[in-house]
Amino acid sequence: MKIKDITLRLTVADYAELSETDRALVDAARSAVSGSYAPYSNFHVGAAIRLDNGEIVKGANQENAATPSSLCAERTAAYWAHANYPDARFRAIAIAARDGSGREVVAPISPCGACRQALLEYETLAGTNVKVILVGAGEIYVAPSVRSLLPLAFTEF
Ligand code: THU
Repeated sequence: MKIKDITLRLTVADYAELSETDRALVDAARSAVSGSYAPYSNFHVGAAIRLDNGEIVKGANQENAATPSSLCAERTAAYWAHANYPDARFRAIAIAARDGSGREVVAPISPCGACRQALLEYETLAGTNVKVILVGAGEIYVAPSVRSLLPLAFTEF
């Protein structure tokens, strides 16, 4: 037997330390939060995806009285992006959130397991890393890829 460690290396940055391109994506994720429909959780999430054609696509969580019909911001953005730009490939995604009082979360939130799995599919399609930028009011975390957030991912089908 042996132990196998799988490590995640995040860059922790201030907004000002990001590149101009990444700052634009963070701005888009923050503005995407206003498209959230979250009357049940009161937790408002926005996501912005940068495509290789230069477009930035935004999404926000959409809730429903039939709870399982709700969808996270990340998948709202990802599915819209591919549905509307099927030939474009994902380059980066930024995720931001505000709580019920309208304040941006201090610690970054990160995508749920289902969103990681969905995003991984588009990263695989892109054939290159899709940077994941998790935005908090305090710190911003930058993960190098979706795969880094989903060790031992299921991809065989
Ligand atoms: N949510 C997202 O949209 N993205 C995440 O990364 C975490 C959670 C949404 C789902 C639900 O509408 C609300 O936040 C509370 O869980």
